[in-house]
Amino acid sequence: MEAKKTSDSFTIMSEMIMPNDTNPLGNLMGGNLMRWMDIAGGICAGKHCEAHVVTASVDHVSFQKPILVGDVITLKAKVTRAFNTSVEIYVEVFAENIKGHNSRRSNHAYFTFVALDDEKKKPRSVPKLIPLSKEEQDLFEGAVRRREIRLILSGRMKPEDATEVKNFFASK
Ligand SMILES: CC(C)(COP(=O)(O)OP(=O)(O)OC[C@H]1O[C@@H](n2cnc3c(N)ncnc32)[C@H](O)[C@@H]1OP(=O)(O)O)[C@@H](O)C(=O)NCCC(=O)NCCS
Repeated sequence: MEAKKTSDSFTIMSEMIMPNDTNPLGNLMGGNLMRWMDIAGGICAGKHCEAHVVTASVDHVSFQKPILVGDVITLKAKVTRAFNTSVEIYVEVFAENIKGHNSRRSNHAYFTFVALDDEKKKPRSVPKLIPLSKEEQDLFEGAVRRREIRLILSGRMKPEDATEVKNFFASK
């Protein structure tokens, strides 16, 4: 399976916030935003893996600045690292008004997607990622530690087996 670059699957998606997407205060509902983040991340993961993918986990998402009805959001999703059958995808959300003013980065999160075989039953192996820029290399290196932490939190790894996290803190 040929290794790929981040740019091969980089995904951009825009949405305008409609009244139906908001809460009674006129702000975008967090659940709707997470749905779009999941879709953008899933498209990116599917392109990288050339397979159907399922969401295995989502790391921390915070909502610091409200996104208002009429705002336009742009979601950018990129692969940070490919493991055996899973990929970590970084999704960032930027908001601005329809005139392109008041631009801000409003949210971001790391998603893990697992590629499935054509019968959509079993996880299958995924192409490796070749990080090129300094930013891509930083995300690539951090991904192995984030993976260990999320596997501990989901009960799939014992804390004592998290060697990358241990080595990272030992080196500080
Ligand atoms: C994700 C899923 C396919 C994993 O299946 P599984 O039988 O546990 O498979 P494995 O143990 O072989 O794990 C497969 C990969 O998933 C990763 N994974 C599983 N659970 C994970 C979690 N909670 N967080 C991060 N990665 C996880 C494993 O680390 C492994 O990655 P790797 O092969 O790159 O090392 C399965 O749990 C599933 O189908 N979940 C439901 C997915 C879904 O419906 N998502 C939509 C949410 S509504």
